[in-house]
Amino acid sequence: MSLVNVCVIDQIAVLEINSPPVNALSAALRQDMIDAFSQVQSDEQIKAIALHCLGSTFICGADIREFDGEPIAPHLPQVIHLIEQSKTPVIALLHGHVLGGGLEVAAACHYRLALENTNIGLPEVGLGVVPGAGGCQRMMRLAGVENAVKLATSGRPVKVTHPDYSGVCDALFAPSDDLFENGLSWINSQLEKQALTPKTTGLNSVDEVPVDWASLKKTVARAAKSNPVPGQLLEQLANEYQLPTLEAEQNTRELFLELRQSVVAKALRHAFFVEKKMQAGRSKNAFRIEQTAVIGAGTMGSAIALCLADAGFEVVLLEQSQEALDRGMGRIKDEYAKSLAKGRINQQQHDARIALISASCDYQSLAQTDLVIEAAFESLEVKQSIFSKLDEVCKAGAILATNTSYLDIDVIAQSTTRPESVLGLHFFSPANIMKLLEIVKADKTSDEALEQMQQLAKKLRKQAVTVGVCFGFAANRIYTRYGREVQQMLLEGAGIEQIDTAMREFGMAMGPLSVQDLSGIDIGHNARSQYPQPEYDKGYFKVSAALVEAGRLGRKTGSGFYNYSAQQPTIDQQVVDIIANLSKELNIESKLFDAQTIQQRAILAMICEAVKVIDEGIVSEKDAIDLIWLHGYGFPRAKGGPMFLAQQWGVEQLQAQMSELRDSQGEKIWPPLDLAKYLA
Ligand code: COA
Repeated sequence: MSLVNVCVIDQIAVLEINSPPVNALSAALRQDMIDAFSQVQSDEQIKAIALHCLGSTFICGADIREFDGEPIAPHLPQVIHLIEQSKTPVIALLHGHVLGGGLEVAAACHYRLALENTNIGLPEVGLGVVPGAGGCQRMMRLAGVENAVKLATSGRPVKVTHPDYSGVCDALFAPSDDLFENGLSWINSQLEKQALTPKTTGLNSVDEVPVDWASLKKTVARAAKSNPVPGQLLEQLANEYQLPTLEAEQNTRELFLELRQSVVAKALRHAFFVEKKMQAGRSKNAFRIEQTAVIGAGTMGSAIALCLADAGFEVVLLEQSQEALDRGMGRIKDEYAKSLAKGRINQQQHDARIALISASCDYQSLAQTDLVIEAAFESLEVKQSIFSKLDEVCKAGAILATNTSYLDIDVIAQSTTRPESVLGLHFFSPANIMKLLEIVKADKTSDEALEQMQQLAKKLRKQAVTVGVCFGFAANRIYTRYGREVQQMLLEGAGIEQIDTAMREFGMAMGPLSVQDLSGIDIGHNARSQYPQPEYDKGYFKVSAALVEAGRLGRKTGSGFYNYSAQQPTIDQQVVDIIANLSKELNIESKLFDAQTIQQRAILAMICEAVKVIDEGIVSEKDAIDLIWLHGYGFPRAKGGPMFLAQQWGVEQLQAQMSELRDSQGEKIWPPLDLAKYLA
């Protein structure tokens, strides 16, 4: 059966694409489009061709799954040229997402009509490739050179109503209008006026307008982080934008073909599909969470309340004292005021979201709550006492979640008579910004409660991963192992700035020691001191412990690994001495490090702990690890995640490197692992 249904209504041929879920341009669809266009273009009775998609969206782009293999004919430029050169005017009816190849098809059509809430975009750079079918060139002609370059190099879609892109569409309809009916009547009215012509966007020349390439370059460099593709695309467009369309299109296509098999493109595709996969399989039961509550109005609790209100949930924010509540509500209001000032939300959204949050010091106000998220002080006794109170006041079926980072949720659940309703919801700081959410399954947590939380995660626009109970769960446990390796390298002679620079150059959003200073060195220190320290690891977080002892807790005390009294952080001799004394005490010889060694050791430590976490069943699969690192700790997306990287390095290389570290640090720290089992 063809993916393109053809029907004729009066003098208009309607080509209706039906390739669920998102009308991606698979080889089969490209072929069916060619067949359908060829069929109607030769019919002289037909005065216009309308291109329309069934389902929730117009064509959302190339079928990304095809990028792993060789390009399959017919290729998209063939479809595009057939449309563009059609003697019968072609009108695209746009709704949903008009992305990548979808926008390239739309731009090649002679007219575009859209619902006002339609998104248009060229997201290819986010997948490590560039628009390969003239999208940049045609958008330059429809929206101006700078706007087209911004669209393609940022990869970020915009609404079709965005003033910079007002030249893209010939008519817009209200989101509630029937696109098909309105589109056909627009076409009919133009036919009556004999106003439709096959005007080709792509074949016009670009007007000589001044383009500020230098500032575009700066913007791209700032935003692209470890992804080199936006920069490559910008350079090509800057050099070639005044070439004839077809020549420039061909050159960009060559870049596309070269990039699609690159490691960066593979890593970005991996990240895309990991996110989709981890979101799949939800919604077996109806979602039943309406009223929510957060206990604790500190930094984390307030941010979680923001997150819930952003998604439209009513939230009761509960604290022990009115003073603490006022501080929390103040934080929330400040955050919303900032969002309003920056134009992220309008006044109406601002007021509505604040109105969703109410403050209370009374546990009785939680009686009708469907979900309580406890974000109180990180102490088992405190949490046990809160959960036993919740058990008394909350209605049957309410889900009782703790945001603990390290504590044993099985023990917390025992302080209630309903352990099946108790689980962990581990947000990452700042909770209203970081995308990762660990849903922690305790021993007795019911599947229904877990499934509700997976649905909640989607509503909160979080990337959720379900994990089991252990110290630090999956994310913090692996992060701790990374932190441990960094501290060990400090003791072996690597410099503080050297480590941070090396990891930033690798692509991490921040250096690990700057992160510790930002979050507070005492936080991890206090969590670790509740557990016995590993005897076999003599240097285990000794540097952090010494800094805490010296009152250097990080930015909040003006000094930690760095000193923050000047505009730029500096290194104090005191810290250098602390580290040197510890190395001496522990008999650790100093050696020279280079950036590559630091990066490799840090990543190997992540991989080592990740494999143990998978092996113990804390997470169900290795892709969960990549999701955690991409969305919880700023791992460079263009590198795919630690497990993707592990696969690139290969089992043999990993075994050799780990075995070298095992020889110097011992089997307990670098145990022999069946890497092949997890990296095949
Ligand atoms: N190629 C292949 N499969 C795709 C795809 C594409 N371009 N875009 C989406 N899909 C698949 C998803 O993997 C998912 O599959 P699953 O149901 O098996 O998990 C399914 O389509 C639905 O996608 P989902 O993202 O869950 O739907 P959504 O409604 O939330 O979002 C889009 C729709 C189009 C906004 C989003 O899927 C998207 O951004 N896709 C990528 C677009 C793109 O980058 N195009 C340019 C390619 S070069």
